[in-house]
Amino acid sequence: MDRQQLRKHLLKQRQALTSQQRNHGAAQVLAHLSQLPELQRPRRLASYHSVRAELPTAAINTSLQQQGHQLALPVLHPVNTNHLLFLHVHAGTCWQNNSYGIPEPRLACTDIVPLAELTLLLVPLVGFDNNGNRMGMGGGFYDRTLAAWHAGQLPHLHPIGLAFDCQHVERLPNEAWDVPLPRVITPAKIWDFRS
Ligand SMILES: Nc1ncnc2c1ncn2[C@@H]1O[C@H](COP(=O)(O)OP(=O)(O)OP(=O)(O)O)[C@@H](O)[C@H]1O
Ligand SMILES: [Mg+2]
Repeated sequence: MDRQQLRKHLLKQRQALTSQQRNHGAAQVLAHLSQLPELQRPRRLASYHSVRAELPTAAINTSLQQQGHQLALPVLHPVNTNHLLFLHVHAGTCWQNNSYGIPEPRLACTDIVPLAELTLLLVPLVGFDNNGNRMGMGGGFYDRTLAAWHAGQLPHLHPIGLAFDCQHVERLPNEAWDVPLPRVITPAKIWDFRS
């Protein structure tokens, strides 16, 4: 299967889950997340607003905020095309839909959180393999976001993929720009690809 066929196949797998399986899976992922050593004291972290059949993040995001963490969410960069910016989410946050129809915080310069200030970056994905290679929706947004981390410029940042177990495959085709993830959390377990 080529990259596009594999993406389609993996999207189908995910779509086949019931909403009950989805919500139960998200609760299990939250339980794993809450046990991470990095989250044992209040931190700044970035998550994402789940759409379609993605692992639901609404309850995860709310719970992380209730645990005392500061939450940031991605917005499409207004100037730097195809890049993301991360904005702090707070009681006064205004929301709007971006060009993909995904709700995002309205851009306010004072809410911008540089990647260097984040401890954890929760990353959506369509598929992942035995080496942490990741396949997303095909926009390259997270590959671009993670490029500086991959180059060793963000040593305090910990990227973590969130997925259902059915998104795991033995091996994904990888391109030069693809950034592999050090960890992925699924309902079943925490996959650690470091070392
Ligand atoms: N660091 C980068 N700099 C420039 N272009 C990039 C970079 N990373 C990815 N791209 C471009 O983005 C496009 C899509 O990449 P890819 O298929 O890997 O997306 P993806 O990893 O599935 O998506 P996403 O990261 O948004 O979830 C490719 O055409 C690639 O050339
Ligand atoms: Mg990629």
